Formats: sequence, C-alpha cells, structure tokens
Amino acid sequence: MKKVALIVVIVFVAVFAMFCGPGKGDTKQGGELTTFAGLSDTVSYVGINTCKQCHQDIYNTYMQTGMGQSFDNATHAKSKGKFEDAKVLYDKFSDLYYKPYWKGDTLKVTEFRLSGNDTVYKRVQAVSYIVGSGQHTNSHIINVKGYLYQAPFTFYAQQGRLDLPRALRTATTRGLAGLLAWSA
Ligand code: HEC
Repeated sequence: MKKVALIVVIVFVAVFAMFCGPGKGDTKQGGELTTFAGLSDTVSYVGINTCKQCHQDIYNTYMQTGMGQSFDNATHAKSKGKFEDAKVLYDKFSDLYYKPYWKGDTLKVTEFRLSGNDTVYKRVQAVSYIVGSGQHTNSHIINVKGYLYQAPFTFYAQQGRLDLPRALRTATTRGLAGLLAWSA
C-alpha cells in the first residue's frame, strides 16, 4: 500500500506543480533562474502515511476506491490473475512465448523461443509491481536495475483472460516490444 501512497503523492505534487507552481525556467524579478523545488536532488518522498496523520478520513475512503488500489507490489493478495490453466502467450512480432506463474510468493514470467520442439532461448524474470485495481485489468511491471518495463502479459479480469498487453498485439505499436530490451 505504500506504493499506492507514493503514486498519490507524486500525482498530487505533479498536478500542483503544473497548475500552481512557477514554470520551469521562470525568471525571478532579479533575473535569477528558478526551477521546480521538486527537481532538486535533495527532495525525497514523504509517503501517504504522512498525509494520513491529518487526513485520516480521506485516506480511509480513498484506499477503498479502484484508483486507490491501482498500484502495488506483485503479491497474491494484489493479483487477480489466474495463470495456471491459461494458454502460453505468443508474440508473433518477436517470435517469443510468455508464461507467467507464481513461484511461492514471487510472480515470474518465462520468455522463450522455439525451433520446432526445441527451446532455443529462455529467460525468467521476476515481476515487481501490478498496475490496475483488477476491476478491469492487472498489468505487470518488471524492475531491471531501477528501470521499469511493462511485462508482456496482462490479465483481463472481466473476461478472466490472460493475453498480451493490447499494444503488443498490434503491429503499429510494435515499438513497445523494443522498449522491453530484455525481450530482444
Ligand atoms: C499537519 C497536518 C497535515 C498534513 C501532514 C497534510 N495535510 Fe493536507 N491539509 C491540512 C489542512 C489543515 C488542510 C486545510 C483543510 C481545510 O482547509 O479544510 C489541508 C488541505 C489539503 C488539501 C486541500 C483540500 C481541499 O479540499 O482543498 C489537499 C489536496 C491536501 N491537504 C493534501 C495533502 C497531502 C497529499 C498530504 C501528504 C503529502 C497532506 N495533505 C498532508 C493538513 C495537513
């Protein structure tokens, strides 16, 4: 839940900065160049528990909403996915197969390529975060050395369907596959 809190704070700060703060590069009267305080490397996140101290009621109700549940660690509790009986996913553009599964408390995805019946390439990656409350979808985020990538599988909760993320199913947005450097 701390992650959700983080997102809330980031969004709040970003929106405030957009509409209320001085523009980046604005000049003060003396001609001194100013920038957003939030861009300073000394800034750190306070987290939702700080806000909760004074805004307990808002916290309580917000955490019940879909938006309040839209980002968290990849845990069994957070996941709506049913992976065991789902078909293995195939990305025709990269000729790669994907199979998500739970290994204990860790959600993993195996990426592999076949040549006939032989597996000629295989990679296993742990999933760090889940995006989406699960009312409609769960999408999955992989953390590679601090860089976040969308994992190539999404659970469509209303249809109970595991599939490639929509962007990966169309040729026009194939660029997303390119973003996933680890799947190249
Ligand atoms: C020390 C107490 C305190 C903390 C901590 C605090 N707030 Fe507030 N906040 C207030 C008070 C007091 C108001 C004014 C309430 C009012 O005018 O009714 C307020 C107002 C707001 C408002 C405007 C609400 C409105 O209806 O206009 C927002 C948004 C807000 N806070 C967000 C946050 C967020 C996000 C955090 C955490 C990063 C936070 N606050 C932390 C005390 C606090």
